[in-house]
Amino acid sequence: MLAKTPPMGWNSWNTFGEEISEELIRRTADILVEQGYRAAGYEYLVIDDCWSLRERSEQGLLVPDPAKFPHGMKAVADYVHQKGLKFGMYSCAGVRTCAGYPSSFDHEFVDARTFAQWGVDFLKYDFCNFPQNGDCRMRYHTMSMALKASGREILYSACNWGQQEPWRWMRSIGAHMYRSTGDIMDNFRSFTDIAKSQIGNLCMSAPGGFNDLDMLTVGMYGKGNVSLGAPCTFEEYRMQFSLWCLFGVPLMMGCDLRALSGECRALLQSEALIAIDQDEECRPPYLVRCGGVTLPNPDAKPGEYPWRSEDECTYTLIRHLSKGEFVLAFFNLSEHETRLSCLLSDIGLPYPSGIGITPRDVFTGERLGVKRDEFSVRVPGHDCRLYRCQLSRCDG
Ligand code: GAL
Repeated sequence: MLAKTPPMGWNSWNTFGEEISEELIRRTADILVEQGYRAAGYEYLVIDDCWSLRERSEQGLLVPDPAKFPHGMKAVADYVHQKGLKFGMYSCAGVRTCAGYPSSFDHEFVDARTFAQWGVDFLKYDFCNFPQNGDCRMRYHTMSMALKASGREILYSACNWGQQEPWRWMRSIGAHMYRSTGDIMDNFRSFTDIAKSQIGNLCMSAPGGFNDLDMLTVGMYGKGNVSLGAPCTFEEYRMQFSLWCLFGVPLMMGCDLRALSGECRALLQSEALIAIDQDEECRPPYLVRCGGVTLPNPDAKPGEYPWRSEDECTYTLIRHLSKGEFVLAFFNLSEHETRLSCLLSDIGLPYPSGIGITPRDVFTGERLGVKRDEFSVRVPGHDCRLYRCQLSRCDG
């Protein structure tokens, strides 16, 4: 079965856009192996848009741009495979890709065969320049069938940005992951908006088909193709990676692995977070509480109430894992430190049950001892805390 758990890998778009080449892909493949990413679970190396010539060949085939890929795509795929990785490519359901290159509308079967001949293991399938009277579901289904008929097992990554509620139907047409939001940008607002919009859409994610929140921007620090506004701090990147792992969605890195900071590399390879993302039961998280914070109001005039409140900026979620464990996660989207608490009765453990929990901090590994009745933590602004917990019978 493909995509038994959320797919993991790297994609060229976020940092490189059109600046892609065989050299870059080979170097990235080397790093994925030599610097521990493959061992951590990252498997797919994906070339996004802008890899082909502007026109098809006389035979109607897609042609890799020889200036970028002088030895063709089969040579790139072979190199990636020799490294023990899988190779991914990109096309689009419309008549041109988003960057204006030829794409697969009405060429689904011939293109799927070309990809299979090159040794492609993963196809990201975009939605730009889709004919106005076209049938989106039918076209995504057509490429799904073309991939199945190609003679090669190819993971199908459908990217229609959440149009027509893909979480309701993409799984049933054979997609293994489906983008359900617009493009991520490398800033705090972008990834938190994406995450908030998907909390209610994760229940269709399950082995074989996952809701896709887009490639990670972790480690980009404003460099690359999707920067907009202030880039994230390390704690914000840690929140992004924690959200994606808690949500159990694909982990596709988008940073320049050649120039990644040590702390972001350690974050992207965090065993404890990846274990949550990859938990075999693939259950979605459940929102326990969404709250506000009360903040000092610097604009208050003398005699006025010196506080203001901000709604919907603290999130407490629980996610059940296999073997009876679960994660409790606290996200503080406000700019100020605040205390987040979880009444255990809110997660089904009223005091008279005699059951408490034993939280272990996912970032530090610290064990906090048995908690009963209530569990609360102080969380700095724009930061989060996650605890992996087991149930514990309390005496008396
Ligand atoms: C967008 C897509 C991005 C990237 C880009 C390439 O539609 O959401 O992830 O693939 O096209 O042009």
